[in-house]
Amino acid sequence: MTHVLTALAWPYANGPRHIGHVAGFGVPADVFARYMRMRGHDVLMVSGTDEHGTPILVQADSEGLKPAEAAAKYNRIIVEDLDALGLSYDLFTRTTTGNHYKTVQELFATLYGNGYILQKKTLGAISPSTGRTLPDRYIEGTCPHCGFDSARGDQCDNCGRQLDPVDLIDPKSRINGETPKFVEEDHFFLDLPAFADALHAWLDTRTGWRTNVVRFTKNLLDDLQPRPISRDLDWGVPIPLDGWVDRKDKRLYVWFDAVIGYLSATIEWARRSGDPEAWKRWWQDPEAVSYYFMGKDNIVFHSEIWPAMLLGADGEGAKGGEPGALGRLNLPTEVVSSEFLTMEGKQFSSSRRVVIYVRDFLERYSPDALRYYICAAGPENQDSDFTWAEFLRRNNDELVAGWGNLVNRSVAMAAKNFGAVPEPGELEQVDRELLEATRASFDAVGDLIGQNKVRAAIGEAMKTVAAANKYLADTAPWKMKEDPKRQGTVLFTVLQAVSDLKTVMSPFLPHSSQKVHELLGGEGVFAPMPRIEEVVDLDEGAGATDGPYPVLTGDYSDVPKWESVPLVPGTPLDKPVPVFAKLDPSIVDEEIERLNA
Ligand code: MF3
Ligand code: ZN
Repeated sequence: MTHVLTALAWPYANGPRHIGHVAGFGVPADVFARYMRMRGHDVLMVSGTDEHGTPILVQADSEGLKPAEAAAKYNRIIVEDLDALGLSYDLFTRTTTGNHYKTVQELFATLYGNGYILQKKTLGAISPSTGRTLPDRYIEGTCPHCGFDSARGDQCDNCGRQLDPVDLIDPKSRINGETPKFVEEDHFFLDLPAFADALHAWLDTRTGWRTNVVRFTKNLLDDLQPRPISRDLDWGVPIPLDGWVDRKDKRLYVWFDAVIGYLSATIEWARRSGDPEAWKRWWQDPEAVSYYFMGKDNIVFHSEIWPAMLLGADGEGAKGGEPGALGRLNLPTEVVSSEFLTMEGKQFSSSRRVVIYVRDFLERYSPDALRYYICAAGPENQDSDFTWAEFLRRNNDELVAGWGNLVNRSVAMAAKNFGAVPEPGELEQVDRELLEATRASFDAVGDLIGQNKVRAAIGEAMKTVAAANKYLADTAPWKMKEDPKRQGTVLFTVLQAVSDLKTVMSPFLPHSSQKVHELLGGEGVFAPMPRIEEVVDLDEGAGATDGPYPVLTGDYSDVPKWESVPLVPGTPLDKPVPVFAKLDPSIVDEEIERLNA
């Protein structure tokens, strides 16, 4: 048994989730966490909403809300979206909690004490007419990287690059159009060059990473510059130093605080569990492993900046130092990054309305229909495209005609002819072969999930489904009215295969595995689901939450083991209800019309 931290990138609290957001890493990380739990590991799956920074401020401005109000609004919406998909977070929290602020400030203090935070003069923007600092988000100009003409002071929404206002070509104030004046100001920088050797040494010990992530990270490590970690913002974690902590116009940069969320969320989970020290099992135990899941635009923060921050807090950069109050902390085991999902050939964009929100999708289709598509055709190793025609095809030809049909035919025949799981007679060669194939799929599928090859893993599971459907076609138990003994043996065999497959399918398709479990006469929870709980801030007033908030959590302690469980002959069976819905081809045109409306 190993402690496995499953860490998912923190979504900005600036809008509902669309299917692009959950395809890259939400569902794949959940598949991994569910599987690892079934293997008996002690999994902790954490994340939350990322509530600071320009993206939230811009959204709040556009709705006439205060930043804290906008963050609370979208935190709640995102929690509902992730819950509806059955993502089994142990804790999905937020970055505005008092616990998060305290953890961030603690880590800052340790890094500062160890000498890894530099205070340097840099150019900051002020408004010439008022003489006041001009916050990053109120400065707009042309992106020096991609030429996009309305890039914002700290980020280009077109190419996604992080910027400094002074980088912008032809910067203008969005308030009154004037050209900002740049003056020298103090800011804080993370001394990345001091981690060059330690980061290279760490990366050299990593195995099994996707080649794109390794290549990208190596390039990053070859060119390390000090990185600004404070910004001209009035919304964010205050800088915990004398003379700074009370300043309203300077806050820690959103990325510096957000990555610390993985640690603070684990601490919050432990505090809420009644064992406040329990977080250490995932962060201090040298045997513990940690897997970080994200889209490719987030690699730099997980494979360079966060490991550097951890090395600095551990006192393991070129300047040495001592671990702080949180002790020595583990670096990531693996950074698992996905590519991008496009939609009918176009990039997702809420503003251009090329988007399908998770909540709208789930109003019309089941969560497992979406999960199946994402697992089978998601952007794991290359960009992939979501099309409604392909969704229809995968749902009807693979999910319904393959897995759904196997379940329904075999349960229906057994219910009709026996009213129960039949007592098998002696197994024949063909029966044994099917049962061996389904048993072998535990290792085959499991190994692939363990390597985060979800597409190949579900493909392997579907091969076994096809083998079981072929077995039914070859043996044709519906023609065995004259030989009930053989019919019972065949139906027992295929039901045992269905039972094994419900286990193998459950990390990908937990909602339907629960249903199959019940169709086979099983009781209780088979594939546990998260739940939404209203909580109060553990450190009210130390952060920026305002009243109770919803978290996602769950009890996953009782999951079934990743193994074949013998079916009990005589277990009563009823006529099954269909597990999946076949879709009418007309949905393709309807959905495309909806998109264009
Ligand atoms: N909010 C960021 C985004 O949506 C991701 C933050 S991940 C974390 O791109 F590392 F900061 F936690
Ligand atoms: Zn750009």
